[in-house]
Amino acid sequence: MIQTAKQVKDDKKRSIQKQITKSITIEEGIKQLFPNYKFSMEQIKHEIKEIETHLEKFFMNLKDKEFPSKEKPYPIAYSLDNDSGILLYLLCRIIKPNIVVETGVAYGRSTACILQALNENEKGTLYSIDSTFRPWETKEMIGSAIPENLKNRWEFSQGTTRSKLKNILEITDGIDIFIHDSLHTYQNMTYEFNTVWPHIKKMDIYFRMI
Ligand SMILES: C[S@@+](CC[C@H](N)C(=O)[O-])C[C@H]1O[C@@H](n2cnc3c(N)ncnc32)[C@H](O)[C@@H]1O
Repeated sequence: MIQTAKQVKDDKKRSIQKQITKSITIEEGIKQLFPNYKFSMEQIKHEIKEIETHLEKFFMNLKDKEFPSKEKPYPIAYSLDNDSGILLYLLCRIIKPNIVVETGVAYGRSTACILQALNENEKGTLYSIDSTFRPWETKEMIGSAIPENLKNRWEFSQGTTRSKLKNILEITDGIDIFIHDSLHTYQNMTYEFNTVWPHIKKMDIYFRMI
């Protein structure tokens, strides 16, 4: 927590570059990235219906619980939104990765969407990293939203990305997709990106949650 506070303080001294952004739909984004990929959004929505219903129930149960507490260690808004979940699912269905690496799990919303796609693909392993940083966080709650039947393609490492990322890169032969969603400080993000970049297979996707 002290490290995090130091990094956040350091970020406040940095200037922020202006970015021009344009919102586009998931379909438009996928068409731009993969012009030859034919898909039906109806089919994708059908494929993710079960996991979406499961996640909806999980978060409904949490809604009225007290935060912070052992039962609700993270705010619900920490988790990925629905559209980003669909996008992650779709990217994993298109790329059919062997290896996906994700930093930042919390309840496991992004993790569950990726695992659902790997399950549908019948191939691939997801390596995720997270840890407990505050007194109310526990290992049991990390990934608690992930259905048990999807965990056979999941390798979880408990620790900081600084202590775990290199080990994962050593045991995997290049990664197909990297997702950063841990500590969004300049220092941590540059560490993760610089560490992972040489291991990302050519032409594949690197995805940052914002
Ligand atoms: C925004 S949440 C992740 C949300 C998740 N991707 C989802 O969609 O539900 C950020 C997570 O990063 C973890 N985290 C923060 N700093 C970290 C670090 N240095 N190493 C690993 N995980 C970290 C936190 O414990 C928290 O669970």
